[in-house]
Amino acid sequence: MLRCFLPTAVAAALLMSPVQAFHTDGDHDHQQPPWQEATGWPDRIVVTLPEEPQTGFAVTWRTDATVDATVAQIVEARDDARFDFGAEQVDAITEALDLTAFEALGQTVEVELNAGLPPANFHSVEFTGLKPDTIYAYRVKGAGDQWSEWLQTKTAAAEGPVSFLYVGDAQNAVRSHWSRLIRAAFQEAPKADFILHAGDLVNRASRDYEWAEWFDATGFIHGMIPALPVAGNHEYQRLGLPGAEQDRVLSILWRPQFTLPLEPTLDDDLQEVTYDVRYAKDVHFFILSTQNNKVEQQAEWLDRELEASDAKWKIVSMHHPIFSSGRGRDSADRRAALLPVMNKHKVDLVLQGHDHTYARGTIGQTPERVGFADKGGDVSTMFVNSVSGPKQYEFQEDGWDRYVDEGVVLQRKAENTQFFQLITIDGDELVYEARTATGALYDDFVMKKNRRGKKTITKGATSTMDERLFANTGEYDRP
Ligand SMILES: [Fe+2]
Repeated sequence: MLRCFLPTAVAAALLMSPVQAFHTDGDHDHQQPPWQEATGWPDRIVVTLPEEPQTGFAVTWRTDATVDATVAQIVEARDDARFDFGAEQVDAITEALDLTAFEALGQTVEVELNAGLPPANFHSVEFTGLKPDTIYAYRVKGAGDQWSEWLQTKTAAAEGPVSFLYVGDAQNAVRSHWSRLIRAAFQEAPKADFILHAGDLVNRASRDYEWAEWFDATGFIHGMIPALPVAGNHEYQRLGLPGAEQDRVLSILWRPQFTLPLEPTLDDDLQEVTYDVRYAKDVHFFILSTQNNKVEQQAEWLDRELEASDAKWKIVSMHHPIFSSGRGRDSADRRAALLPVMNKHKVDLVLQGHDHTYARGTIGQTPERVGFADKGGDVSTMFVNSVSGPKQYEFQEDGWDRYVDEGVVLQRKAENTQFFQLITIDGDELVYEARTATGALYDDFVMKKNRRGKKTITKGATSTMDERLFANTGEYDRP
C-alpha cells in the first residue's frame, strides 16, 4: 500500500453485478473461480516487513468495493483460550483499485486480461510500537462483522539467529505446479522468519487471476510468515503506447497488495520496489528492482546504504542475475552498474531469479579450491540464481566460463528442478541449503566470517545427488 508518494490507482465506479469475466490461460478458457472473487470477507492477507521489523509489521488484505473503511485488531499472543481479550483496534488505510484500466503517461491503458472484473478494495495497517521477538495475534475485518481468523506472526528479535526462505520465479502454473514447492518450503521451515520472493511471482503483471493463484497457493502462509517480495520483469506490464519512451509500468496490483518500506531519497517509481530491511543487528537486506530503468540511481543508493550499514551480514536480492545461467542470456549493463558496488562492499550473498535454472558460485575463491564438495579458501560474494516454478530453461553452454574475467566460479548448477532455499545466519556463521520440492538436499555450504570480515567456506556442498540436467532427468514440457 503506497501511502503518499504516488497518485492512488484510479478509483472506479462500483460495478457490483455478478462477475462474468472469462479468462484465457494458455489453452484453457475458464470462468472466474470462486477463489479469485473479492467479497465482503477479507482475503489475500499478507504480512510484510517495515524497515525496522523488531517493533512492528504491516498487513495488507482485500475485500470487494463495498468495504470503504475498515479496521484490524492486534494483541500479544498468550496461552489463554481467550487471548483475544484486550486486543487493540487500528484503522486501516483503504485504496480502491480499478482492475480494468489505469492511467499512465497521461493516457488510459486498458487491462484486457481483467475485462469484466469489478473493482476491489485493498486495506492495510502498520502495527507499530511492538515488542521484539514476540508473537502477536491479529485479525483483519471486511464488511459488517466479517473478520479473518486470528493469525499469529512474530516480530524480529533485536539480535540472535535469523532463518529465512528464498525462492526464485514462481511465475507459471502458480496454483497447479508452484503450490507444492512453496508448501514444501513451509513444511521444511515452518518457523522461518520471512520468505524472500526474488521476482516474477506471476507471469502477467496486472492480471488479477494470476495473483489469485499466488494467494491460493500460499494460503495462510503469508498471514503468518512475512513476505519480502522483489519485483521482476513480469511484475512490469507492457504499456504498448506508441511513441512512449517508457515501455513498462509496475503491476497495478503491486502497491495496493504489498505494504513495503518507502525510500524518500529515491524517485517515485522506485517506491516499494527498491528498499532495505535491517531484520536484526547482524542481518541487513537490500532489495533492488532491475526491470526498472533506473539501475544507476539504485546502484548509487545501494552504495550509500551499504556504506552506512554496520550489519555483519549484507544480502542483496534482485531479479535479473549478475551472472546469467539461462542459455543465451546476459545482463551486461546491470552487471556493469551493480557488480562494482557489490565488490566494493563485499556483499555476502546475492539472491536472484529470472534464468529458470539453478546456479551458485562465488567471487574470490580460487578455482582449484572450489570443486564440488570442496571447502576452504577466502570468498567475497556468493551468487545464487534459483527457480521455484515449473518453467525451466537450459543452462549456459559454457557454464560461467564467459565470466572468468569477473573472477566468479560456478560451484553447483541444475536444470529441470524446482527449488527452495533455507538460509540461517547465527553470529559468525551462515548456513545455506537448496532443496527440491520433495525436500531433497541438492546444494549446501557453510560460510564463516571472522572479526575482520574475512569470509571462508568452512563446509562445502555435502549433497551426493547427481547434477540434475535435462539429459538425466524426467521428460519436460512447458506447463
Ligand atoms: Fe524474469
